[in-house]
Amino acid sequence: MKPIYAVLILVVGIVLIRCDKGVKKDYKVIDTQELTKNQPEVHGTEVKEGELQLTNPLKEEYLATGKSIYDLKCSACHRLTEEKLVGPGWKGVTKRRTPLWIMNMITNVEMMLEKDEEAQKLLEQCLVRMPNQNVSREEARSIIEYMRKNDGEQ
Ligand code: HEC
Repeated sequence: MKPIYAVLILVVGIVLIRCDKGVKKDYKVIDTQELTKNQPEVHGTEVKEGELQLTNPLKEEYLATGKSIYDLKCSACHRLTEEKLVGPGWKGVTKRRTPLWIMNMITNVEMMLEKDEEAQKLLEQCLVRMPNQNVSREEARSIIEYMRKNDGEQ
């Protein structure tokens, strides 16, 4: 076989494998138990009015942290579009919820599911409880910045 064919086969092979991975990822079945298996349960305390300050323009330093936490801990269940995966898509979330509500949802989901009607409605729609992700307040704050950016804020 001419060397050029060998190279072609290799290239086509690599492309096929990569596409295959891409497709599989989309249809991955998410085992929520598995995701949180080794995490100790940490319960946050309620974030209250006045403990959360938002600024314009957005804080650049929060954006990168927010994105990396999203990639690591949230993207398995939340898209950045309106599309629902396991949980609701994040597009528009900062318009339909207050920052304080989002903050408590992230750091204190048990309390929200117990007390907050909107959170309970979401649970009915999604049929899955969002697991506690052990996200600190500081981390949650950076995720909010990332969500605001995703909703078009500058
Ligand atoms: C195992 C899946 C899963 C993971 C991982 C997950 N969530 Fe969720 N999330 C859900 C589900 C399901 C709901 C809706 C039902 C509920 O609240 O329990 C939800 C709801 C939310 C809501 C409310 C959305 C709305 O439209 O009002 C926010 C905000 C949120 N999650 C943030 C996060 C953040 C931030 C992370 C990562 C640190 C994260 N979630 C990780 C499943 C998940």
